[in-house]
Amino acid sequence: RTRLACLTSGGDSAGMNAAVRAVVKMAIARGCEAYVVREGWEGLVRGNEESSHVPTDNATSPPLAGAPVDVNAPQRKGGFVATYGEGELLKEGEGEQTLKGRYIIRVGWDDVRGFASIGGTLIGTARCAAFREIEGRRKAALNLVRHGIDALVVCGGDGSLTGADRLRAEWPEHIQALLESGDISQEQYDTYKHLNIVGLVGSIDNDMAGTDMTIGATTALHRICDAVDSISSTASSHSRAFVIEVMGRHCGWLALMAAIATGADYMFIPERPPTAEDWQSSMCKVLSRHRDEGKRKTIVIIAEGAHDCNLNPITPDMVKDVLSNRLGLDTRVTTLGHTQRGGNPVAYDRILATLQGAEAVEAVLASTPNTPSPVIGIQENKITRQPLMDAVAKTQEVAKAIERKDFEGALGLRDPEFED
Ligand code: F6P
Repeated sequence: RTRLACLTSGGDSAGMNAAVRAVVKMAIARGCEAYVVREGWEGLVRGNEESSHVPTDNATSPPLAGAPVDVNAPQRKGGFVATYGEGELLKEGEGEQTLKGRYIIRVGWDDVRGFASIGGTLIGTARCAAFREIEGRRKAALNLVRHGIDALVVCGGDGSLTGADRLRAEWPEHIQALLESGDISQEQYDTYKHLNIVGLVGSIDNDMAGTDMTIGATTALHRICDAVDSISSTASSHSRAFVIEVMGRHCGWLALMAAIATGADYMFIPERPPTAEDWQSSMCKVLSRHRDEGKRKTIVIIAEGAHDCNLNPITPDMVKDVLSNRLGLDTRVTTLGHTQRGGNPVAYDRILATLQGAEAVEAVLASTPNTPSPVIGIQENKITRQPLMDAVAKTQEVAKAIERKDFEGALGLRDPEFED
């Protein structure tokens, strides 16, 4: 019987809860034991403390690892599963005490009830420094084997999935070392020789190669458009200019789409950098024309990773200075920050995460020692599987192309069809 665990890692994104819900429910429906790992890779590195609180009373104890979950059985009122199942512990933070020192948790059908509509990630996430080191990944491997977990679904951005890919690649080395150090038995070694791992791309940045859309990107875009609409009315009232910085790390998708959706006057994205010499004049020319045509407001959207073609950063304050000094516009800067990441998922992210979560379970169950670990994506409206290794490599290629100023190459790698 497969023990399947799900974790969310890196920056949270709306829809991650829907993904966890789908993975847990699909895993149970397919006869697996379902687990969640709290706090992302951090929780897997830490594992469960020996002394951590484990309720002894039958009514409140979590189901024993290995005990079958009967999806039709009535939930034990006041019991761990029922309470956790109703989401109270996680939603209200009341579970911190009960869950203290416990990161790898067996979950039942009800535990994820109501998850689909809630923003962020209820099982927690972290940016884990320890997992970047081989020792951290070895601890994570040990905890997986100790809990008998043989399938892992990881929902995170490119950094988290790069980590997943590294763990997969190093797996034989880890479990050999754990056997030699006596941390695991020969029987455990034989049973857990292969790690089944599947990636789900959860990120607001939409920066993963090989998928049209990442879980959470649409919601973030929606938040940005709401904010730009709000700013637009006050900008128009005062006839002001606004420079609005949006997230996206090294990727300009959020900025580009927000600019299209809100009819912004100008934008800066890392993939199409302006020349270092005359970006100010080019921008001023367009913005003056818009003013001449009678526009009362000026909206410039700038991706946080924006730079010129020599890779010198272009910051919101630099743009503001140009608008104030050269065009004489009364200019304000608004950094939307984490409002873009928070809040409930829009319907699309709930649906995408649910379809992909279900597919992740099917993929993990179908995987064999000879099939490469997949990442679940969406292309032309169809849920896809592709080798995690390839998606990670292509994503890193995009970053490298930008570093060597091959901007066309970076765009082409993201989607060859749109290469011009
Ligand atoms: O990757 C998601 C993201 O929100 C980026 O857009 C942003 O650069 C970064 O995470 C912010 O990270 P943090 O929440 O750790 O400050």
